[in-house]
Amino acid sequence: VQAGFFAVDMKCTHLGCMVEWETDSQTLKCPCHAAFFDYQGKVISGPAPKPLPQYKVEVAKDVIYVAGLA
Ligand code: FES
Repeated sequence: VQAGFFAVDMKCTHLGCMVEWETDSQTLKCPCHAAFFDYQGKVISGPAPKPLPQYKVEVAKDVIYVAGLA
C-alpha cells in the first residue's frame, strides 16, 4: 500500500446515488438528498448513515490500482 493514497467509493451510503466532488467546498456532495462527505468519505451532514467506504490504492509502474477495502 502506497502511504497517503486511498480511493473513496462514490456511491452514497443513503440510497446509492453517485456523489460528486465539489471543488469550492472541498467536499463530496450527493445530489439526491444533499448528504455531504469530507475527502476521506466521512459524513459531514445529511441523511447518509455511514461514511463512504475507503479502498487501498497501490501504485506500480505509473499505474494506479484500487486494491480492496481499506
Ligand atoms: Fe445520497 Fe440520499 S442518496 S443523500
